[in-house]
Amino acid sequence: MAQRSYSSAIEEIKSRCNIVDVISPVVPLKRTGANWKGCCPFHKEKTPSFVVSEQRQSYHCFGCGVGGDVITFTEKYYNLDFPEAVEKLANQYGIQIDTVYSQQGKKREPYYELNKQAARHFYKNLASGWNPGLEYLNKRKLTAETVKTFWIGYAANEWTDMTDALIKQGADRNMLVELGLCSEKNNRVYDKYRSRLIFPIVNTQGKIIGFGGRIIGEGEPKYLNSPESLVFQKKNNLYGLNVTRQEIQKEGYAIVVEGYMDMVSLYQGGVKNAVATLGTALTPEQAKLLSRYTQSVVLCYDADAAGIKAAIRGIDVLRRAGLEVKVLHVDDGKDPDEYIQKHGRDEFINLVRNKALPDVEYKMALIARKYDVRKTDESIKFFRAAARVLKELSPVEQDVYIKNISSKYRISEGALRDEINGIPSTSSDVKSVPPRAEEQVNLNQDEEPDILEKTLIRLMIIKSDYFIKLKDYPGAIRTGLGIGILNAFESQYREGEDFDIADVRNALDYDELEYFNRIMQEVQPGEDDEKAFQECIRTLEQRRIDSRIEEIKDILTMSDETVDQEYITKLTLELQELSKNRASASKAGKG
Ligand code: GTP
Ligand code: MN
Repeated sequence: MAQRSYSSAIEEIKSRCNIVDVISPVVPLKRTGANWKGCCPFHKEKTPSFVVSEQRQSYHCFGCGVGGDVITFTEKYYNLDFPEAVEKLANQYGIQIDTVYSQQGKKREPYYELNKQAARHFYKNLASGWNPGLEYLNKRKLTAETVKTFWIGYAANEWTDMTDALIKQGADRNMLVELGLCSEKNNRVYDKYRSRLIFPIVNTQGKIIGFGGRIIGEGEPKYLNSPESLVFQKKNNLYGLNVTRQEIQKEGYAIVVEGYMDMVSLYQGGVKNAVATLGTALTPEQAKLLSRYTQSVVLCYDADAAGIKAAIRGIDVLRRAGLEVKVLHVDDGKDPDEYIQKHGRDEFINLVRNKALPDVEYKMALIARKYDVRKTDESIKFFRAAARVLKELSPVEQDVYIKNISSKYRISEGALRDEINGIPSTSSDVKSVPPRAEEQVNLNQDEEPDILEKTLIRLMIIKSDYFIKLKDYPGAIRTGLGIGILNAFESQYREGEDFDIADVRNALDYDELEYFNRIMQEVQPGEDDEKAFQECIRTLEQRRIDSRIEEIKDILTMSDETVDQEYITKLTLELQELSKNRASASKAGKG
């Protein structure tokens, strides 16, 4: 069977999933004329202003302004990203996505299953009478309920305890080795996790993707994590999120800690909105994952040098994902685990409320600590460093902090502003130049709908400027693999430097790397990269205009007498303007 492109699968979803069928089970709808109406699930309201058009297969809320099609609804309502929403709808309606993406999904299932068997084995070990695991658990004051919530287990102090049990159940040796559950030596396999408390790592789809194992008592390494595998990529997951995501949404913020024990202990102590990074610095992918549930994060790391460094990096990563960040270093006890065990929930929450510093203040406090502002030469260095921090902020934030710092450290606001403005602009300030009409070339969308994405990825490899410019077009890259590659670029981006392809490759998982290599082979280097890029931008601009036109048409068909007429007039004028632009652009394109 011919491979269907990702884009044509999307078209099929749009034509086969009736938006009313998708929305009505979760939002009660009533028919009003040609449309359906209900209370908007995305903001609080008593009078319905959420309208669904069956004819146009779209929705719009006249209260809060959200709107879109069946896929964007699924993304927003279920907190999924675009490829996940596509997959959910495709599964629900029995539509095949014949792309690498879903083939890999099928390949993963047996690995998840094997991890589950292993987790079950470790869990049973812990529950079977007295054992060192249970004793250690008691020492760390974890309860039976906590064990159950997180499926905590125990790996016995033996060489083939788990291996024997799983092989007996029919497990494949090679797969056990691939998952890092077993090691192989002299053609024999044996348990990798021995004498450890086991923390299964579960993704937000409820699949066990890997394990963290803490040594019982003393020993090296203290924590043993699963290696990267077909099903486990550290950079894409956060420990505990499967359990705490609803609570994070409800509380309005997430607490990010360093350790498994910290996360579990906070949860047991009644602080149920925490997650742990998996022994690495916070990644852009993890930031994006969090941003589905909340806009606000409190980083709660150890107060040592490593913890401070991790906090500073974490701030930048989270900010770039559009999140608001605070930093809290607990003052009594080495880490959140010890603190909450000693002081309890309420005092911990008090700390979060009163002692967590907004990111900018945190950075300022660190700078102020480094320099003695009473000495002239050091105070100059202080202001330079402060200006560099302020430079990164939005104008409004800048204004607030300039006032704040100038009064606190007695320097004129003007001087501080001049210092900030004196710092050379970063390339992220560069705005893309609107393309000239004659540069437009047809990227034949019917023949190869994903060629645009592939071309763009290849161009970004050649020049990092293109990566920055593309930030203005959020939907340009939209397949799951493409988004993975984009995230890898994000994590490897250094201002003013081109990407190191080796580094980008290292940041990719298996499937992404395969896609990446395919792009490098398939997409022929053009004669003129800049021209190729302008063609892409031009196509994206047209897509943007087209989708805005469709959006306005949707809203107009869904409006009724209850809608503010001024708003309707404004939209009508915008529509006329856009249609005019669109007509002249396509004429220029053909010419
Ligand atoms: P406990 O001593 O069990 O309370 O651990 P902790 O939660 O205080 O952890 P610690 O501050 O020692 O480390 C925090 C996190 O860093 C752990 O949860 C691990 O993810 C990671 N980590 C610590 N030690 C090791 C190690 O030896 N190997 C690896 N791979 N990761 C580690
Ligand atoms: Mn600890």
